[in-house]
Amino acid sequence: MKMIAIDGSPHGARGNTALLLDEFIQGARAEGADVERVSAASLNAENCCGRMVCWYRTPGLCIHADDVNELVDRMAWADVWVLSTPVHLGGMTEQMVRVMERTVRLLSPCFEIHDSRTRHITSPYASGKSVVLISTCGYYEETAFSPLVSQVEDLSWSHHRRFVGALLRPHGLALRYMQENGIDVRRVLDAARIGGQELVRDGALSATTLEAIRQPLLTQEEFVLMMNAAFERRMGCQPGRTPGCDTG
Ligand SMILES: Cc1cc2nc3c(=O)[nH]c(=O)nc-3n(C[C@H](O)[C@H](O)[C@H](O)COP(=O)(O)O)c2cc1C
Repeated sequence: MKMIAIDGSPHGARGNTALLLDEFIQGARAEGADVERVSAASLNAENCCGRMVCWYRTPGLCIHADDVNELVDRMAWADVWVLSTPVHLGGMTEQMVRVMERTVRLLSPCFEIHDSRTRHITSPYASGKSVVLISTCGYYEETAFSPLVSQVEDLSWSHHRRFVGALLRPHGLALRYMQENGIDVRRVLDAARIGGQELVRDGALSATTLEAIRQPLLTQEEFVLMMNAAFERRMGCQPGRTPGCDTG
């Protein structure tokens, strides 16, 4: 199984999302997958020009000759796309969008109707291939992932790929912080590794594994207290003066 794992965090391997991604990759490799890990932030990456040159003028070919162009060539053949991105403004990061927009050249401009929905035709090689989402967010609640999950479901549909599922870590902002402060995050990371194994072995992610990844590690109140105390220490807040909102 050939997997391309794209780390879409601007923090790359130092980010919170990478904690899950790297465990997932370890699990997948242990089951024999051939995994290429790419950090989107480190790529020489042009923006999609939006003129659909890759559809109308030079079908299948992008006007940009950069790292992303080469990556998209490899993505065309990969059995699994692992899209790892923190939630930014409800969706994927700018770094991830920049890569994913460029995959449009893998599709034809011509439409087809499938299960009563329209989509673009693509090469038969896309069939049987899949997409996995890995994400962390800053907010405590899981609902923070809803727009992102819909976006990735939608792009999987557009690419005729099966959306296998999402490893979602709410209040993931606190992951490294909790790790440094003695809260047991190991069970979350272990579950991410098991997810990688399951995907290769079973072609699926079990409900138990996904549940273990998103389990709350503290209450909402504890989370707010812990984070605000950390900000206070770091930024020297005073009562009545909130950093960034100080009108006085
Ligand atoms: C520009 C920006 C926008 C963000 N938007 C959201 C958001 O809409 N919802 C949310 O829950 N967290 C949001 N976050 C928080 C990140 O998702 C969170 O800190 C995440 O764990 C960062 O992952 P990373 O360390 O892998 O980059 C945002 C962070 C940044 C920098």
